[in-house]
Amino acid sequence: MSKPLPPSDATLSVHAGEDRHGRNAPLTTEIQQTAVFALHNTEQLRRYAAGDPDVFLYTRYGNPTLRAAEEKIAALEHGEDAILTASGLAAELAVALTLCKSGDEIVSMLDIYGGTAKLFSNLLARCGITTRFVPFHELENIERSFTRKTRMLFLETPTNPTLRCADIRSLAARAHRRKIAVVVDNTFATPILQKPLDLGADVVVHSATKYLGGHSDLTAGAIVASRRLSAPMRETMILSGGCSDPGVAYLLLRGLKTLEVRVERACRNAATIAAYLARHPRVVQVFYPGLPDSPSHSLATSQMTGFGAIVSFDIRGAGPAAERFIDALKLWYLATSLGGVESTVSYPVLSSHSAATRRDLKLMGVSPATIRLSVGIEDATDLVNDLEQAFANDEPPHQPGSGFGME
Ligand SMILES: Cc1ncc(COP(=O)(O)O)c(C=O)c1O
Repeated sequence: MSKPLPPSDATLSVHAGEDRHGRNAPLTTEIQQTAVFALHNTEQLRRYAAGDPDVFLYTRYGNPTLRAAEEKIAALEHGEDAILTASGLAAELAVALTLCKSGDEIVSMLDIYGGTAKLFSNLLARCGITTRFVPFHELENIERSFTRKTRMLFLETPTNPTLRCADIRSLAARAHRRKIAVVVDNTFATPILQKPLDLGADVVVHSATKYLGGHSDLTAGAIVASRRLSAPMRETMILSGGCSDPGVAYLLLRGLKTLEVRVERACRNAATIAAYLARHPRVVQVFYPGLPDSPSHSLATSQMTGFGAIVSFDIRGAGPAAERFIDALKLWYLATSLGGVESTVSYPVLSSHSAATRRDLKLMGVSPATIRLSVGIEDATDLVNDLEQAFANDEPPHQPGSGFGME
């Protein structure tokens, strides 16, 4: 960066990483859509070999458009360095393969994104890295899961889809006593609402496909860490071919500029929707840390600056009612992602959690009645009205002679 920036998230979202200086300089960061860079001379090549960060050679190793997005994400997460990757899973793979080798162990929350769980239990297991999955209620005794071989503690908070919050500060302190690195998937919270590195984590990973991009039009991931950790992780990303692309980085930069505004608006909408659902007679329970009676409310208040824009709930009538409700929605799209400007609905037992065992679903509090909403930035009244018509569409048929208030 040419000038120091004030540290507020709204300003960093717009300006961090974007090098705008000189007359007639473009106000936006250009897409350097190239796989390879032509060098002026061997002196420039020598500078590259000596580690000069301003000389670019080959996009898999680095590219100015990728660099700008990396700097913006690092600034927002209060990290020294960020690495842009091909996807969230590519980020997690590079982190795990750097921190662990064959024979090592990962301790992970059980309540994590299903793809991450498969990465750990299928792919990493084939590399000789084993994972212990810890149910949420056992996190308070996390030490019991650590062994001499544990190298990495993996947390995702708030969790998907039941929005439970794990205490990053406390878990990081206990892992560090055993010299275990703490990795937090901050996809749901975004750096606007939660800064895991400030709470003691060593590494943050993101599916930038979600809120960071924000428009459901790109696939990318990010790793944020100290330079000491990021250097070998970048090496792993380069060698495993998990790099991003300049066009994607450009879209990501564009999305990131409005991150703070989008998250603020989506959180406000989510709070309205959670309150509406909490009062609804067709709703058995609402999962949202912003509700005062949520078991995660006080922790979320202490480690986050907002409660996020994902709201889940269990509908009365279980699976058949859930499917009828989802199919009756008109404004909310059925889409298995989250974090876009558009509000979407997902059905975990048939998507993100379809591979989970019955036992694990029970431990995660997920059932066929569970519906997850990713609240977007539309008008909150329009969103509530659409939920209302979907509930009304599925009112139990009126039985002649039956009394009011009977189910
Ligand atoms: C919390 C979380 N982490 C990681 C991922 C993986 O990200 P990607 O699809 O960008 O690889 C996802 C994807 O849904 C996710 O929800």
